[in-house]
Amino acid sequence: MRPRAESLLWDDWHAVAEFEQLSRPGRFLTTLLDVPLTLERDPKTDSVLAHAGDEPIASLRLKYGFVWVCLGDPARDIVNFPECDDPDRLLGTAGSVRVAVSGLRAVENFLDLSHLSFVHAGFLGEEPFTEVKSYSVESSPQGGVIAKGCRVYQPKASPVAREGFDVDYTYAVLRPYIVVLYKANPVEPQRRDMIALFVQPVSEESCVAHLLTCYLRHGVEAAAVRRFQQFIFGQDRPILENQLPKRLPLTAGREIPVRADVASAAYRRWLAEAGVRYGAIPAA
Ligand SMILES: [Fe+2]
Repeated sequence: MRPRAESLLWDDWHAVAEFEQLSRPGRFLTTLLDVPLTLERDPKTDSVLAHAGDEPIASLRLKYGFVWVCLGDPARDIVNFPECDDPDRLLGTAGSVRVAVSGLRAVENFLDLSHLSFVHAGFLGEEPFTEVKSYSVESSPQGGVIAKGCRVYQPKASPVAREGFDVDYTYAVLRPYIVVLYKANPVEPQRRDMIALFVQPVSEESCVAHLLTCYLRHGVEAAAVRRFQQFIFGQDRPILENQLPKRLPLTAGREIPVRADVASAAYRRWLAEAGVRYGAIPAA
């Protein structure tokens, strides 16, 4: 198949469905990098068959409750999170939401601390605690961006948080369309809950956001986590869909970054350096 995107995306793995979504009989249709996909679960073997157009997809795997597909030749493995193997954690998929905007915008929004106290007021932030304290951003040796030492006052940081506290955040952009967030657990502040966002680039201007949560148990229930994350993402969705242009501009200064956007500026710079074009408005 002729590649429809640069190798960094084409030859990588992308989550394209929650495995649960395939439990109903019949075919599941979706799109990855402008390529129509058909997924079908064989109830006898519980395996998944996938086609890109008429061609069978050879590179297909199940991991973390999602179906992953690589349309080209896999240049590296699916992202891996050692925390997900901890026996005292609850691993869950928290939904797959279609969003009419570039997936790069969805990743950038996930990184953006300044929106928490406005868009998620009463949960992930609150007035007057709107100031974003300075934090450090570095580039990762494996490619990508790491933001550390972010602290945000959150009235309800997680489904089990009973009172507000200053939450310590670390973000890591692992792939152009994959970002993970570690935040201090309300019961065991020295350990961290993890939320990963796997964005499926449907087209350059639309995506599906797949969320994986990995909370320390402490009385957390899977359904409550799912509801909480879907509620939070439901607040982001209209904000994302109102962003213009729908693709993410990579030219410095095109949208002037403010202090809170240090991570976002580093993300855009890394995308430009890595040669990511799909979903972006490349630097001139
Ligand atoms: Fe948000």
